[in-house]
Amino acid sequence: MSAPTAETSEHSHPSDESGFVHDAVLLQETVAAVLGVKSLPKKQTDHLQAKGVYVDATFGRGGHSRLLLSHLADDAQLIVFDKDPAAIDVAQGLAKMDSRVQVVHDSFATLTQRLTALGISQVDGLMADLGISSPQIDDGSRGFSFMRDGAVDMRMDTSRGQSVAEWLEQVDDETLANVLYEFGEERHSRRIARAIKQMDSYDSTLELAEVIKVAHPKWQKGKHPATQSFQAMRIFINNELGDVDEFLAQSIPVLKPNGYLAVISFHSLEDRRIKQFLQRHSKGQYPEDQNLPMPPERPRYFSKPKRIAPSKDEVSHNPRARSAWLRTAMRTDVSYQPDVEA
Ligand SMILES: C[S@@+](CC[C@H](N)C(=O)[O-])C[C@H]1O[C@@H](n2cnc3c(N)ncnc32)[C@H](O)[C@@H]1O
Repeated sequence: MSAPTAETSEHSHPSDESGFVHDAVLLQETVAAVLGVKSLPKKQTDHLQAKGVYVDATFGRGGHSRLLLSHLADDAQLIVFDKDPAAIDVAQGLAKMDSRVQVVHDSFATLTQRLTALGISQVDGLMADLGISSPQIDDGSRGFSFMRDGAVDMRMDTSRGQSVAEWLEQVDDETLANVLYEFGEERHSRRIARAIKQMDSYDSTLELAEVIKVAHPKWQKGKHPATQSFQAMRIFINNELGDVDEFLAQSIPVLKPNGYLAVISFHSLEDRRIKQFLQRHSKGQYPEDQNLPMPPERPRYFSKPKRIAPSKDEVSHNPRARSAWLRTAMRTDVSYQPDVEA
């Protein structure tokens, strides 16, 4: 099968069969970054025809993948990952129409292992658009939303693992409070954890949100009091930060020299990790080396990283973009040294 034309593939807000739509954030900027160009050609009919192998670690509904494909050569490859079976259905549909696409239903934490299984040892570009997609929030039955009722699930991968409801049944107050504090930066975590543990059942996201609302002593204008607690439980149950750490560490051996990493994050817990990772591996010195009398020379695996924010125009059209940051850097030609602690 041949590659589709850009006219059919450049679609920034594709939907799935249920009609849920995802507006891709920092679309042009991320695709330009992963291809290592300042910006994409203005004319939609000008295509870069880039060669090589690329990874979209978070396919979602494929907004970034489709634009990237429109700038790839006919013999290029795009490997797409997602944990979510609904996203994977859409990706498989795309792969049927475009033979350059290969689909992996797994966490991007398995990057190296999954690429090896496909016979790929290194790639020319890696992009990830972290967090949850609009379809995941908009479909109340997934349990991510405190505005729509559904089972308290919150798993991205509904085919495996424990739901938040199952976890809440057996977790103790203190562990729950620690999760709310660590992953939601919720200052009233103890009080909220106690109220949650007094609930008889965890069948309804709206009931859970109401209990958190009543327990929360300080409501902020324009923000639902359950926002941080829901974020915390979601990040915990999906091991989101652990997966990001593993993905970043693997980007060093997986990227070819001059290959680009481009990662979009939506909250400070993730963004801080990406920033520190890129600083650590582009400076030739680790922060902890600073107090040593003879700081060792560390490998500089990445060029000076860049941080890109969405334009005002994008934020006005897509409120999800408000808190997004894109961080990007080029892999240098320094060989990976597995014995030097990452
Ligand atoms: C913000 S959306 C990506 C949207 C996508 N860029 C688009 O244009 O449609 C994030 C996606 O990443 C997936 N995801 C989150 N963490 C993941 C992980 N560790 N491994 C694989 N997929 C993950 C989610 O299931 C979700 O579909």
